[in-house]
Amino acid sequence: MFKSAIEEAGFTGAITPFVSAMPGLDPLKDREVSPVEPNVTVQFIGKDPLALRYCLERIREIGHVTADLNCGCPFPMVRNKGRGSGLLRTPDVLERMVETGCEVMGPGNFSVKARLGVERNDELLSLMPMLNRYPLRFLTVHPRTAKAMYEGPCDEAAFARIREVAGMPLIYNGPGGNMVGRPFIRSLGERADIMELLSRYIDASRAELYGERPVLGRIKELLAYWRELPRWSRRWNLIKISRSLAELKLALT
Ligand SMILES: Cc1cc2nc3c(=O)[nH]c(=O)nc-3n(C[C@H](O)[C@H](O)[C@H](O)COP(=O)(O)O)c2cc1C
Repeated sequence: MFKSAIEEAGFTGAITPFVSAMPGLDPLKDREVSPVEPNVTVQFIGKDPLALRYCLERIREIGHVTADLNCGCPFPMVRNKGRGSGLLRTPDVLERMVETGCEVMGPGNFSVKARLGVERNDELLSLMPMLNRYPLRFLTVHPRTAKAMYEGPCDEAAFARIREVAGMPLIYNGPGGNMVGRPFIRSLGERADIMELLSRYIDASRAELYGERPVLGRIKELLAYWRELPRWSRRWNLIKISRSLAELKLALT
């Protein structure tokens, strides 16, 4: 039977990088959201319930049945505007976003991804009674505060306190958790067929993005995950100074 790329990689599902839900933006334009792939959930970031409603209705039109809300993005420029992890600081807005999501997608089809808090590790905990009132598909917790960004130990104790009170399925996103991000990307660098995959990814990126620069940027960002692997460490010195795809290809040989 045909296996989706996600199943082939050993996952039961995947969530897209966030797509902006802002007034006047159409998620189907500029190929922000692709037609449905099995088990792919579209994630939105924003703070405007009406804009979120419009985006969710649009993705439903092309067959998506699940969606996710980003309450995790830690970057100050995002969170200080009340988006991403900033939603944890505006409970009324968060509630209207969650209410809208559950209403448009239907019970059990809308999920939330969150940090423990912006500065404190109990901010999400204090929002749990509100979140428990909605029929969420699941809640994913990246057990760090936004201030901690992406490094340092995950706060297991704070996660355990959320687990005690959560009424919805809970997903732990961090080392040893049941959702992974960076460790999976790192592991790709060790695949036997990685050169072929990489070449296909470069071709697909050239077809998708405009010009060499963004393609080069995207590929270098990926390759940076592998720079400590024995297979890649020597190549990395050349990769990082490549200024064109031709130079990059040479560095890869
Ligand atoms: C470059 C980068 C981009 C990310 N983009 C998103 C995103 O769009 N939506 C999201 O929910 N999390 C995003 N994350 C966070 C990851 O999904 C994950 O929560 C975090 O990296 C911790 O898990 P990990 O240690 O398995 O990577 C991003 C992380 C990185 C490093």
